[in-house]
Amino acid sequence: MNSPTRTPQTLVVLGVVFAGLALNFLLGSPNPSAPPRIPLVDTNFLDTSTVRRSYADLARAKEDLSDFDCYVCHEKGKAPTLRFDTNQNLIIPKEHADVVMGHGSHGRNNNCFNCHNETNLEFLQSRDGRQLKFSDSPQLCGSCHGPTYRDWEAGVHGRITGYWKRDLGEFQRKQCVNCHNPHSPRFPGRPPAPGPHPLHWNGTEAGESPAHPHS
Ligand code: HEC
Ligand code: HEC
Ligand code: HEC
Ligand code: HEC
Repeated sequence: MNSPTRTPQTLVVLGVVFAGLALNFLLGSPNPSAPPRIPLVDTNFLDTSTVRRSYADLARAKEDLSDFDCYVCHEKGKAPTLRFDTNQNLIIPKEHADVVMGHGSHGRNNNCFNCHNETNLEFLQSRDGRQLKFSDSPQLCGSCHGPTYRDWEAGVHGRITGYWKRDLGEFQRKQCVNCHNPHSPRFPGRPPAPGPHPLHWNGTEAGESPAHPHS
């Protein structure tokens, strides 16, 4: 069957066909239904750091802890007096302007000494009277928020980062104050991250509803 003259002819034909295809590929045929360009994701959404840095984080990173040096301004052994306005709202002195209270509906837990130890400001004090270091604040929160604290210990509330396999590296449970401001703990809303980009493009721009497959 294989005649010696046919083989070169076939190779020439194939060569022409492939050259045509290559040309077509290089020049590119305009495709009217080309998917839209994928917009770059805001790098905000890729950041894995928590919304706040706790005292423990600052101490670990050996950063400025002067906000926690209470006795630079306060007198040792003398509890600061709490001042209230006529509506029984705490008056925050300007030295503590960064402390914005709003703990609970109707400011139910705004009293500084529900959490800070009035006789030693460098310590926290839990509901059941334990004296705690600033770096142990989850136990303070847990003294009033028992169920959430147990969820947190079980890894259901909050976030754990680091390594599961302990010999590879550290395992870290983020503290309550990494996400909640202790003074106004309501978690602020956040814009949702964009949805995944579909691999099978359905012919619509982001935000439009997909075209009906049968219409
Ligand atoms: C830069 C100075 C400064 C530092 C640092 C400071 N305070 Fe104060 N604080 C003040 C002044 C001024 C007042 C108002 C006068 C007063 O009550 O002594 C005040 C008032 C307070 C009050 C009463 C608040 C109110 O609404 O009446 C509390 C509680 C308090 N401080 C706790 C602390 C704790 C806890 C720390 C450390 C974690 C601290 N302060 C660090 C200056 C400071
Ligand atoms: C002395 C008790 C007490 C301690 C300590 C305490 N809380 Fe609260 N917390 C409350 C009360 C009371 C409410 C209000 C519940 C309500 O209004 O229904 C509240 C409400 C909240 C809320 C809901 C949001 C809001 O403002 O209503 C969050 C979140 C929260 N606390 C987080 C924390 C964190 C984090 C800590 C530790 C830094 C902490 N709490 C320590 C008593 C406490
Ligand atoms: C629900 C508990 C709670 C209450 C109520 C509370 N604090 Fe605090 N406060 C904390 C915790 C916990 C920290 C440490 C947070 C951290 O690790 O970042 C802190 C930190 C601070 C600091 C040092 C860091 C900073 O933000 O400047 C000051 C000063 C302070 N509190 C003052 C006050 C004053 C004044 C009041 C009352 C007006 C008050 N706090 C009420 C729990 C509380
Ligand atoms: C990794 C972040 C993170 C950590 C760590 C964390 N929380 Fe929360 N917490 C949240 C978020 C997010 C919400 C939900 C806010 C919402 O739904 O509006 C929340 C909600 C809450 C609420 C309100 C629940 C309700 O029914 O409204 C409380 C109380 C609370 N957390 C306490 C704590 C305590 C106490 C700890 C530490 C033992 C803690 N959280 C640790 C992120 C965190």
